[in-house]
Amino acid sequence: MSATAKNSNKVTVATLKKFKQQGDKFTMLTAYDASFAQIVDQSGVDVILVGDSLGMVVQGHDSTIPVTVDHILYHTQCVSRVVERALVIADLPFMSFSDTSRALDNATRLMQEGGARAIKLEGGGHVIPVVEILAKHGIPVCAHLGLQPQYINKLGSYRVQGRLEEEGARMLDEAKAMQDAGADMLVLECIPSKLAKEISQSLTIPTIGIGAGVDCDAQVLVLYDVLGISFGRIPKFSKNFLTEAGSIEAAIKSYDSNVKQGKFPASEHSFD
Ligand code: KIV
Repeated sequence: MSATAKNSNKVTVATLKKFKQQGDKFTMLTAYDASFAQIVDQSGVDVILVGDSLGMVVQGHDSTIPVTVDHILYHTQCVSRVVERALVIADLPFMSFSDTSRALDNATRLMQEGGARAIKLEGGGHVIPVVEILAKHGIPVCAHLGLQPQYINKLGSYRVQGRLEEEGARMLDEAKAMQDAGADMLVLECIPSKLAKEISQSLTIPTIGIGAGVDCDAQVLVLYDVLGISFGRIPKFSKNFLTEAGSIEAAIKSYDSNVKQGKFPASEHSFD
């Protein structure tokens, strides 16, 4: 098979922007190993995130803080080795992008050694220079606003962000600044649905919601929550799709089709 034929089916950041222009919703789901990644890829999910959530669901930590670039690299290799269609995004973990030079070095490793085709990073206005330099070097960037789990030691708890008017206005400004800096998409985590809708309508790049309501351009969940195998409490914004579906494949397909039909998230999974 020629390289062109092999690549023709692959989801790229351009595909995701086209989905937004056409008003077609798309899906992102986390995966951390080859077996699950293959099922997720074959179920029609468009983007696979090797998220630093692996620190909690795979490694058993109570936060994402202990996750290192080497951990993300290992799991990105496991995933990208088998994925054929979905866009594989690797997360930059805590402190791995504290300045532009660290960010460039670590993103380069995740792409060259890990096989990631895009990079995600948490943070507001202060990460704009990082987004800008990655984008300038041809690295597709997924920005992440709202609840940022890497700030747990400052926040004290995982709670909804942007409820105050001034916080919401700042988030909207930061979202526009991310786009202007060259971000290709934006995760919005745990924010009021109304704010997520306003941000989504103000941007040309797609927004990907988790606890951000149905009006985002796409949705993301942690795979283990979708399969109901998380220890501890399942977050309000998530849903166990396995109970009704009966098999892992059917559960992931159900998540994918419910998002694409605008049926998930429902109001009980969203915040005012
Ligand atoms: O690390 C992760 O899995 C994430 C998603 C939940 C957005 O950041």
